[in-house]
Amino acid sequence: MQDDEHHHHDVEFDRATRRSILLALGIASVGSVATSAAAAPRLLPGMRLAPTPGIDLINDKPAHALPKPLVATANDILGPFWRAGAPFNTSLVPKGANGRKVAVSGTVRDTDGKPVEGVILDFWNADDAGKYDLENPFQTLMPNEYRYRGLVKSDANGKYSVETIVPGKYRIPPQLPGFESFDGLLRPSHIHLMTSHNGTVPLITQIYFTGDPEIARDPWASKSKSIVGLDKAGDALAARFDIVLLRMG
Ligand SMILES: [Fe+2]
Repeated sequence: MQDDEHHHHDVEFDRATRRSILLALGIASVGSVATSAAAAPRLLPGMRLAPTPGIDLINDKPAHALPKPLVATANDILGPFWRAGAPFNTSLVPKGANGRKVAVSGTVRDTDGKPVEGVILDFWNADDAGKYDLENPFQTLMPNEYRYRGLVKSDANGKYSVETIVPGKYRIPPQLPGFESFDGLLRPSHIHLMTSHNGTVPLITQIYFTGDPEIARDPWASKSKSIVGLDKAGDALAARFDIVLLRMG
């Protein structure tokens, strides 16, 4: 009896000590967690839990194997420097160009994941110094003046590739219609592209590069998921940009 009382006293003492230590540490809720755990319903003799109807989302493998639609590549601004009439060309780089060459390639798919053949990809980007061949949207270019612009087509497997350079950064020019509030903003390095194809919704977007410090300050790039790595590929660089298009109708 004496021993039991001693033991009981020790337990009480320990609890009190423990609680004051926890309170001192600011962990006052530990006691209430223990209380609610103790209050959890117990399975009594004769009680049975009802089986859960439907799919077992944890263990049912076929439920996880259902195809998930791909997310379509998001649009980005067209900007003022696109120009119609660029020629088909697997390289957009003029002879003697400055800058680091980059091979951009990828696969064009629909949201079911099926490759899309025959998509025309119209690329345009600034030169190494951040200049487009077009100084303003009202300028006229002759066909032999197209620089860093060109079209490529996706093949039977949806694959495309195009060579360009890592574009230089440029500031948004003053009083550019629609961009007045962004005068002077230094845009991250980017490659523009536009798709056209009978059967998919046209996409106008931009490709940015991982690690570019201007991305966070740019109102468009900071919301973009089209940010790709620049990988070393021999003497040049390679960037992979896969595209998901929405089918029409
Ligand atoms: Fe641009």
